[in-house]
This record gives sequence, C-alpha cells and structure tokens, in this order.
Amino acid sequence: MSLPLDTLLEGDCIALMNDLPAGSVDMVFADPPYNLQLGGTLLRPDNSLVDGVDEDWDRFSEPAAYDSFTRAWLTAARRVLKDDGTLWVIGSYHNIFRVGAALQDLGFWVLNDIVWRKSNPMPNFRGTRFTNAHETLIWCAKTPQSRYTFNYDAMKALNDDVQMRSDWLLPLCTGSERLKDGGRKTHPTQKPESLLYRVLMAATKPGDVVLDPFFGTGTTGAVARLLHRHYIGLERDPGYAAAARARIDLVRPLADPSVLLTPSKRSEPRVPFGTVVERGLLTPGDLLFGGTRYDKSAKIRADGTLIAADHRGSIHKVGALVQGAPACNGWTFWHFKQGGSYVPIDVLRQKIRAELH
Ligand SMILES: C[S@@+](CC[C@H](N)C(=O)[O-])C[C@H]1O[C@@H](n2cnc3c(N)ncnc32)[C@H](O)[C@@H]1O
Repeated sequence: MSLPLDTLLEGDCIALMNDLPAGSVDMVFADPPYNLQLGGTLLRPDNSLVDGVDEDWDRFSEPAAYDSFTRAWLTAARRVLKDDGTLWVIGSYHNIFRVGAALQDLGFWVLNDIVWRKSNPMPNFRGTRFTNAHETLIWCAKTPQSRYTFNYDAMKALNDDVQMRSDWLLPLCTGSERLKDGGRKTHPTQKPESLLYRVLMAATKPGDVVLDPFFGTGTTGAVARLLHRHYIGLERDPGYAAAARARIDLVRPLADPSVLLTPSKRSEPRVPFGTVVERGLLTPGDLLFGGTRYDKSAKIRADGTLIAADHRGSIHKVGALVQGAPACNGWTFWHFKQGGSYVPIDVLRQKIRAELH
C-alpha cells in the first residue's frame, strides 16, 4: 500500500495505523487524550464557565483502561515508524508519566523531556494548588541505535545563536489562530502552531513524512504544509476532521523552499585567514581594528599572521592577547576600514565560501 500523503483519514487511529505500511514514516507527533476526568463545572471568579476538556474522547473508566489504550496506540505507532524515526508525545501531569513508562517498556529510547512553559497559563481559580503552567513533551527514538534527525544548527540559530534548551517558553493558542464556531472554541485542546514549528524544525527535514494519530484541528498538518513536510492525520471525530481540512486548505507552503535550510557550521569549508591575504582581498601591511571603539589595531603580515605592539600570531591569538582575554574569535573581532566604516573580516571569509559552493 502506498502512503496516503497529505491526507486526513477518519476513524480509530489504531486500526488506521495498522493499515499503513511498516517502517514508513519519519516522525510521529501524538497529542493523545489526557484523561483529565474533570469533575463538575469550574467557574472563574466572575462566575463565567471555564471551557475545559469534558469530551467523551477524553474519558476512560479507570487508569488501567487508559494504560491499555496507550500501549495499543504506541505499539501501532512503533510499527509504522522508520527505524531512524522519532516519536513525540505531549501530555500533562494527568497522563505523561503513564505514557512515559509505557513507551520505555515498548523499547523507545527517550532523548529529551521538553517542558513547554506557557507564557499565558490559565490561573488556578480556586487557589487550591500552584498554577499549572506547563505541559511536557517526551521526545524519543525508536531504539538506542537509531540515527535520528536533530537539526542542531537550526535550533541554535532559532535561539539567537545560543544552544536550544529543553524548556520552551511559548504562549497558548489564542487570538486569530484559535478556531471558533459561533464564538465557542472548535476544539478544547488546539495546540499553538509555534510549538509544532519548533518540533518540526528540530526533528524533520523538508520532504519527511509526519504522522499525527490524534489530529484534532490539524495543527501538525498546517505547520507541516507550511514547512514543506508531508503529513498523515488520523482523527475519529468527523466535526474536528472537517475543521482540520478547511484549516489546512488555507495554508500556503513557503514560496521559496531554500529558506528552510540552515547550513551546518560543521559542514562549511574551512577558510584560513591566509587565504584572504593570498586572494588579495586584504594586502600585507593593511591595518585591522578591534575593540568597542576600534581602539586596538594590528598589521597584516604576508603569511596571514598579525602583528600588534607586543604580540604576533593568528587573528585569534592576537585578538585574545590585545584584549587580555583567554580566547577570541578573530573573524568577528577584527575589522578592516572601507570608506568611513569598519567591516568585520568575516565578510571576506563568507565571500570566499560562497565561491567554493
Ligand atoms: C488532545 S486532542 C488533539 C488536538 C490537536 N493536537 C490540535 O492541535 O488540535 C486529541 C484528539 O484525538 C482524537 N481521538 C481520541 N481518540 C482517538 C482515536 N482512538 N482515534 C483517532 N482519534 C482519536 C480526539 O477526537 C481529539 O480530537
């Protein structure tokens, strides 16, 4: 059977997954029922009703029933996942520990537990507990040997060049993104697109296939389409399925797919500073300037080293010595003068790299 790419299939996700070919999808993103089992109605201080999760799809008779459902869908998801694929499950304190135990029992290998810290959580109206301000995502590989995708450089770039941490501060899904029907939320647990954006950017490549067995309003499909990933959505409720289809139809994939790629720093060709000199982009005897007021200077030598008052050596070594610093990235520290302004020498390295591609 060929894969039903970019399609929403209606029905029970376990039966539908069992009909898909084994080892065929690159990632599973699952937002299963949380088994919240909310008792009674919950009112805000102004007596308005809290629109919580009280749907039948979230009800299980007892924890054991929830556990056997969890094991059944995880087993089905594991079969369709490629050996090098990964699985994400999102949940709250109500279910995530049970899900975590089940997936470890089934042989999945946990890579991270991500804490999605909500910047705008719902208060604890009764004042009986701490504000429940986060959800947890478990990210796991199929086995400890899986050669899974992790776009390290893209995550670092997304985080202003600082390594991405496992706690993510993102808002709940509100405003125009939230699907509504006559003023009421279409779905009680629609996830924010920003969360799926980060998940898909972190753990998939353009063209990969992402399966979401609990599709709801199709947040995974909407972001997958935008980012040129394929999706397969499974949803049992025809009303949610219709809302998801209408939503995804409105999404236009990014017009220029080349913007999806983050060049890996490790795979960029190494360009020594000497090459800049050899290529005549700077001339021996020229001065370079660094420091907050460009008050440090050094002269370029014919062999690509620098000489300052008392120091000589590579751009990095002299950059560190003139500042009295333990280390220095000479490419960003040193500048040459062009017209009236100071330009980082890294611009010249990028120019040479562009010619090498
Ligand atoms: C927590 S919600 C997912 C919300 C979704 N992530 C979104 O952003 O809209 C879980 C969804 O799973 C569906 N569902 C529950 N059990 C299912 C099953 N056995 N097969 C297929 N869908 C199921 C429910 O109808 C519900 O829409």
